[in-house]
Amino acid sequence: MLELTNVCKTFNPGHINEEKVFDRTSLKVNKGDFICIVGSNGAGKSTLLNIISGKLGIDRGKIVLDNGDITKEPENIRCQKISRILQDPVLGTIPSMTVRENLSMAYNKGKKFDFSFLVSKKNESFFKEKLKILDLGLEEKLGTVVSKLSGGQRQSLALIMSALTEPRLLLLDEHTAALDPKTSEIVMEITNKIIKDKSLTALMVTHNIDHAIKYGNRLVMMHRGQMIIDVSGEEKASLTKEKLLSLFKDVSDRSLFS
Ligand SMILES: Nc1ncnc2c1ncn2[C@@H]1O[C@H](COP(=O)(O)OP(=O)(O)O)[C@@H](O)[C@H]1O
Ligand SMILES: [Mg+2]
Repeated sequence: MLELTNVCKTFNPGHINEEKVFDRTSLKVNKGDFICIVGSNGAGKSTLLNIISGKLGIDRGKIVLDNGDITKEPENIRCQKISRILQDPVLGTIPSMTVRENLSMAYNKGKKFDFSFLVSKKNESFFKEKLKILDLGLEEKLGTVVSKLSGGQRQSLALIMSALTEPRLLLLDEHTAALDPKTSEIVMEITNKIIKDKSLTALMVTHNIDHAIKYGNRLVMMHRGQMIIDVSGEEKASLTKEKLLSLFKDVSDRSLFS
């Protein structure tokens, strides 16, 4: 459903701080894939999500989503098909607006702009039903200003907002990294539930190896802009930290002698 072919991306070309992040990198994502992406700092994980979302353009290569070439499509058009959640809970929601207003805004995403959504209460039960899935009591807080919510509640709300319009693709960039360990576990469970319930196709960057092993049907490890490990199906289901480490060792040994 998503295919990146021979993508090249260099930051600051021709300057002293030039950095080639992708050099003919390719990735094929199948419909319904829930891919956990791991890799060291600077591997290109965020850049990958940024070029898929359209936040960053590419120098060469092609990006195809559901048979449509989106390589040159601007971010504001792509965002109707692709939802994205970042690490910082402040970015996924609008803090000065209420839970209800945030949900209304997400629900109306891509529709004709109309201020009436800010006061409309007709979606009240629909929103409550969605919030109940979280089991955080947010359904009783529709009138609460989002800045009063905890980080975990905000990321969970952002997830509900992302899934409201049933995006074709959900991009998560270390969306639990700023949360305390316990909340991070809760938000991961919620993430998994939403992705499964809606059969979403998702790419999730995480620093948490346990999460990458536990969740998703596929694990991709990135290193210097390349996908050096890509396991799915049975192999992914039976993956352990030890197996992942030995896979990594195999790849490192091979690249050392090639
Ligand atoms: N907007 C940018 N301008 C210049 N360099 C960037 C930009 N975004 C990322 N980079 C560089 O590209 C490399 C990959 O970054 P990034 O994709 O953020 O890595 P990761 O998310 O895997 O830690 C890093 O060396 C980073 O410094
Ligand atoms: Mg990153």
